[in-house]
Amino acid sequence: MAKANDNYLRLPGNYLFSTIGQKVREYQEAHPEADVIRLGIGDVTQPLAPEIIGALHKAVDEMGAAETFKGYAPDLGYAFLREKIAAFDYQSRGCDISPEEIFISDGAKCDCSNIQEIFSVDNTIAVCDPVYPVYVDSNVMAGRTGLYDTAAGAYKDVVYMPCTAQNGFAPELPQGKAPDLIYLCFPNNPTGAVMKKDRLQEWVDYANKNGAIILYDAAYEAYISEEDIPHSIYECEGARGCAIEFRSFSKTAGFTGLRLGFTVIPADLEADGVRLWPLWARRHGTKYNGAPYIVQRAGEAVYTEEGRAQIKNQIAYYMDNARIIYEGLQSAGYEVSGGVNAPYIWLRTPDNMTSWEFFDSLLSKANVVGTPGSGFGPAGEHYFRLTAFGTKENTIRAIERIRERM
Ligand code: MLT
Repeated sequence: MAKANDNYLRLPGNYLFSTIGQKVREYQEAHPEADVIRLGIGDVTQPLAPEIIGALHKAVDEMGAAETFKGYAPDLGYAFLREKIAAFDYQSRGCDISPEEIFISDGAKCDCSNIQEIFSVDNTIAVCDPVYPVYVDSNVMAGRTGLYDTAAGAYKDVVYMPCTAQNGFAPELPQGKAPDLIYLCFPNNPTGAVMKKDRLQEWVDYANKNGAIILYDAAYEAYISEEDIPHSIYECEGARGCAIEFRSFSKTAGFTGLRLGFTVIPADLEADGVRLWPLWARRHGTKYNGAPYIVQRAGEAVYTEEGRAQIKNQIAYYMDNARIIYEGLQSAGYEVSGGVNAPYIWLRTPDNMTSWEFFDSLLSKANVVGTPGSGFGPAGEHYFRLTAFGTKENTIRAIERIRERM
């Protein structure tokens, strides 16, 4: 008899952003007149930059002519894109990463959830708390996390590394037995916190000393505005020996609807004597047919001089929203952080409300949607995330409503 993968039954409820979407739909059905402003899921609102649109049009035309038509993309991505990424994102920052070490995909979410497949199910995982739910959920599906403790809001076999106001929302090195796989995301989703280079170097040294692998999500690196914050883990010495990095075009260049990302696996990176590059290449070749040619050409356009300038303006637009949210809430008496090197603002809920109580209250009184901190893990309780990815007009209106009605 066929049996289902009952690891899935250990997942509590729905994916966080599906739950939020459902709640908002229900609210709107009950209140059709409500003008709801969405600052929940980190989805961009600005149109694609002209340079990207130009590249898309050109690539579409190529697909319409026999001489330039493209079928399946190369397994690991087109060389024209991998070369640009290696040069602009890595070598220009002094990181020793070659085009062959870059795997093109349709986004960081898929890669950071699938990467666990190339590791033993016996490996232990450590995550920041709060954390982007995909890291934990994908390991639950694989059967690596043990049972869910409802009272604690946590899985038995996962090492949760609290990120609190006391430690600047950046985790301490684990005490006791070292975990095998360590998920880090900086600039951080959801808190918007960053880790300075010397601190990240400590993690790299720790992983190398203990034979652990760091799974480093750098999806938000383009939002870094301050010095001394690494854009890539490969800026740290020895990171080639212990780290895999994920990047996304979604937040950098507005590709949430186009889909493009990549993963970097150094050719010599090993887990217990086994090279990981061939394993991920094998997985890619077997389970994936590559990001579309036209999208990879659009990705290439991000690296032209005009593309880079246009993207920079777009990021500045969102970061101005971040400033509006941060300053607006702070002057209204909220305890806020993030928003300086990341498009997320992390706020403490007033009057010790739970995160979901604040969600409901914000939706019903101000018609503003955000993301409850507890949805990201137990240490996110009594916190709340707002995204800077809305339009400027809506961001200003949302903050005015929060100040007036909450
Ligand atoms: C978020 O809101 O945390 C992200 O947009 C979700 C994602 O990138 O998958």
